[in-house]
Amino acid sequence: MKVTVVGAGAVGASCAEYIAIKDFASEVVLIDIKEGFAEGKAMDLMQTASLNSFDTKITGTTNDYSKTADSDVAVITSGIPRKPGMTREELISTNAGIVKSVAENLIKHSPNVIIIVVSNPMDTMTYLAHKATGLPKNRIIGMGGALDSARFKYRLAEALGCPQSDVDGMVIGGHSDTGMIPLTRLATRNSVPVTEFLSDDQLTYVREETKVGGATLTKLLGTSAWYAPGAAVSAMVQAIACDTKKMFPCSCLLEGEYGLSDISIGVPAIIGANGIEKIVEIELDDAEKAKLTESADAVKKTNGLL
Ligand code: 2OP
Repeated sequence: MKVTVVGAGAVGASCAEYIAIKDFASEVVLIDIKEGFAEGKAMDLMQTASLNSFDTKITGTTNDYSKTADSDVAVITSGIPRKPGMTREELISTNAGIVKSVAENLIKHSPNVIIIVVSNPMDTMTYLAHKATGLPKNRIIGMGGALDSARFKYRLAEALGCPQSDVDGMVIGGHSDTGMIPLTRLATRNSVPVTEFLSDDQLTYVREETKVGGATLTKLLGTSAWYAPGAAVSAMVQAIACDTKKMFPCSCLLEGEYGLSDISIGVPAIIGANGIEKIVEIELDDAEKAKLTESADAVKKTNGLL
């Protein structure tokens, strides 16, 4: 299993590290435009191999896509991250050109690759990757919901005062500060609905904190987060590499599902060796349906800026 990670910045390097530590891939190639940067990160990571007991071979290259040839999976993290106070959508003018060029270079050397898009504004960048490559829709996936759901579980466990391992929950919709939909109605604590434990005010707090989870960290860190984004996308890579058929909320190109078309937005999907194996249409209540429509309208508006 060969994985390429485009962008050796904090998210890309964290993703590469988590993939290596999980040791399910034979090779990870880090590629970046900054001279020596990917090579340095790869070498530093390889010097943890004996300490973290992994055999995955990590190499780096400065913008030589031939080194990425025949990748099974490629993760696109390249582009600029947001600064405090910025929305993800404000990154489009810089990141759209980068993501388009990266996607085209990837498929030139790896015609069978499955692409996972992380770069923001992620739903629009995922849509752009579909348009730029023409790959079958199952082979381009946007990573947002896996990260947002992890933040949702963090906030739920905090409110419940319980271990995160007791909690399950999913966030669908656009990966944006306003478009995310944390499904508190369906979240559980050891199979018991969290609505049995938390008041409406507590549930509102959890939803709102989840939605701005990225912005909260950007304010604290001065740049976008990287550990949880890296961990979230590495989990999706693992589902593909090991054909686990794990269900993630992720940005999928919809053609009528959830009443939406010609848009990539966060919905539950089964992820396996073929990428998106199946989009799962869950029953949403009227309020959730309305929020998804509103979220989709916002994503389409951003798509219109491409
Ligand atoms: C985040 O929410 C980078 O969009 C990513 O942290």
